[in-house]
Amino acid sequence: MDTVGTRIMIVDDEEIVRVSLGNWLKEDGHEVMLAASGLEALQMLEDRICDIMLLDLKMPRMSGLEVLAKVKTSKPGIQVLMMTAYASVETAVDAMQKGAYDYLVKPFEPEELKILIKRVMEKQALQQENVALKQRIEDAFGTDEIVGECPAMKTIFQLVRDVAASNSTVLITGESGTGKELIAKAIHANSDRKYMPFVPVSLGALPETLVESELFGHQKGAFTGATYARRGRFELADGGTLFLDEIGDLSPKAQVDLLRVLQESKFTRIGGTREVSVDVRIVAATNRDLRQMVKEGQFREDLFYRFNVVSIELPPLRERGDDIVLLAQRFLREFASKTNKPIKGFSNEALAIIRGYDWPGNVRELENAVERAFVVVKGEVIKSNHLPFNIRSREEQADSRSLKAVEKHHIRRVLAETGWNISQAAKALEIDRVTLYNKIKKYDIQEET
Ligand SMILES: Nc1ncnc2c1ncn2[C@@H]1O[C@H](COP(=O)(O)OP(=O)(O)OP(=O)(O)O)[C@@H](O)[C@H]1O
Ligand SMILES: [Mg+2]
Repeated sequence: MDTVGTRIMIVDDEEIVRVSLGNWLKEDGHEVMLAASGLEALQMLEDRICDIMLLDLKMPRMSGLEVLAKVKTSKPGIQVLMMTAYASVETAVDAMQKGAYDYLVKPFEPEELKILIKRVMEKQALQQENVALKQRIEDAFGTDEIVGECPAMKTIFQLVRDVAASNSTVLITGESGTGKELIAKAIHANSDRKYMPFVPVSLGALPETLVESELFGHQKGAFTGATYARRGRFELADGGTLFLDEIGDLSPKAQVDLLRVLQESKFTRIGGTREVSVDVRIVAATNRDLRQMVKEGQFREDLFYRFNVVSIELPPLRERGDDIVLLAQRFLREFASKTNKPIKGFSNEALAIIRGYDWPGNVRELENAVERAFVVVKGEVIKSNHLPFNIRSREEQADSRSLKAVEKHHIRRVLAETGWNISQAAKALEIDRVTLYNKIKKYDIQEET
């Protein structure tokens, strides 16, 4: 196994140790980073991540154990090897319980270090393989590709598993972009129907005249344009799951038709006479408040109860705590694995902004934001300035409430919105172009890259 090219950071307050270890490792073809203190090490990791860290246990100010704890929480992918004097081997063992991979007792031979590094690399490779394998299996069958560690999501996953086994109709609600379709697929993938089709229909996207034929199909010549017979989604989903998306957009007529099918499990194609009966499991979704619509007479109460046998309410992303960060990291990994860009992660500041933003567009918005940052970034770490403007501008806004700051912020936003088209921006701001130029200069506003 090839261990050359591994990036190793040496953290030791003694220069002689840093230099001699560094030389050994460089000779073996590794890339080396040197830090004289725990603090320096953590700072360096903000910009560049290493694969392995050789960490001295006893250092002034921040001890090796403290550094270890920080690394394990913020950069869990780094494998840490502790270095210790013989007298503190006990502490080194303690460090292993806290997540260090192994320890070396000073002084040690180059050979000893080599063997250990090789073992770490093998372990990392194996871990990556396992993750890839697990991912493949889950992509095919499972719900585990869905990120969710917060209590609300865990409850939902349990509900998905419970309800999947039954044939009950499920109504999934939640703001736009919260993962309703993903949950619908998970229900299907966990059910006995998983080898049969999952058929989505987006009712909101269909013009009213097409809803009926889309759902129920039509016979040849049933209406102008029906030049051939066509099976509807109900038939296509036979034996499987029909995902009725955006049911809040159903017209009154379509509501009646649908209610009949749900009651009788039978329908006729448009222009047809023969009744078709199907075995379909219905999962419906909406981002609208159906109860309210029922109250206002826009949605049939009987249909609502037909759908709402089991209901799953997806919380907005902003209420999912650390899931926000987990999702951001997941998306980044996904984008990175599709390209060859060597991105290692987010800076702490970028993560703090991501965590603090309120994500009105939920998971979809987060996914887009991470993608955009991924495209823009040149180095290995995504920093706050790579995040989309509207997301990070909240942070900047909080910096200052002075009129000047607000003006600067506002101009910057308008410029970003107009793609730095000065004429357009000046027009939107209702000032002339020269004034705008002067303000750009005065506030030192620069175009995003
Ligand atoms: N918990 C999650 N883990 C991983 N990916 C997720 C999660 N939730 C949503 N996504 C991803 O976010 C995107 C939006 O999800 P989805 O289309 O299911 O949302 P939706 O609620 O149906 O949105 P809309 O109401 O706008 O139709 C998809 O790319 C989906 O894969
Ligand atoms: Mg959807």
